[in-house]
Amino acid sequence: MATPGDNAVQDAAAPRRRRYRVHHLAQAKEQGTKITMLTAYDALTAAVFDAAGIDLLLVGDSIGNTMHGHTTTLPVTVDDMIPAARAVAGAAPHALVVVDLPFGSYEAGPEQALGTAVRLMKETGAAAVKLEGGRTVAAQIRAITDAGIPVFGHLGFTPQSEHALGGHRVQGRGDDAAEALCADALAVQEAGAVAVVLEMTTVEVAARATEILRIPTIGIGAGAVTDGQVLVWTDMAGMTDWTPKFARRFAELGTALRQAAEDYASEVRAGTFPDAAHSFES
Ligand code: KIV
Repeated sequence: MATPGDNAVQDAAAPRRRRYRVHHLAQAKEQGTKITMLTAYDALTAAVFDAAGIDLLLVGDSIGNTMHGHTTTLPVTVDDMIPAARAVAGAAPHALVVVDLPFGSYEAGPEQALGTAVRLMKETGAAAVKLEGGRTVAAQIRAITDAGIPVFGHLGFTPQSEHALGGHRVQGRGDDAAEALCADALAVQEAGAVAVVLEMTTVEVAARATEILRIPTIGIGAGAVTDGQVLVWTDMAGMTDWTPKFARRFAELGTALRQAAEDYASEVRAGTFPDAAHSFES
């Protein structure tokens, strides 16, 4: 069986790429270079996205929806995140790997947050962590940052709070909401975050946050105004029937995979696979 290291996606003739690090985030913002980020949950896809030149790989707690069959991210645990993040970090020699602190692993306070972040860093090989929230988790971001661990913030629609937010709703609509979101963004920055994800916000508030922050904004459903973009890879590659309004299907992998499985099954049933070319003779 092939292993991720065997991937044909590695191009030996390509110029040597340096690992993406946190100082490259600041450089990208300064130079106006768009930052690219995709989720990854396993070694195979991580190797493909790393070879494709994606800057950042997010081992998101969206693993709960995409890989574990949950309807929200709430059931995801630190024990779920660790093997996924270890696989991604081990298969991505160039991308900066960010791992989510799942629901329940940091809200109690800075001590809990730091304990979780340290465990994730020690046991996975990821280079940064991400957590959801603004002013209410600033102390957590500060504690993790002070321990030398880069932190990504996450504002706007924060899936771990989907019940409090009343479902998947665009955030930052109206002056008060926009002002609150910008205050949260500034708090996250002042607490030491290296970047902030803005999910499902109006384009106007994403533009305002991007303008007032020194750190880069990475948008998902926040328009083209942010310093970078992130998508859940299964949305980006068309793995599922339904795609959120903000995600474009850059491929139809779900259809291609189903076709491959149907072709395989029909050849097995017809007795045409395996043929002589795929069999061993004495
Ligand atoms: O878990 C995740 O995939 C995320 C993205 C939606 C940014 O947090």
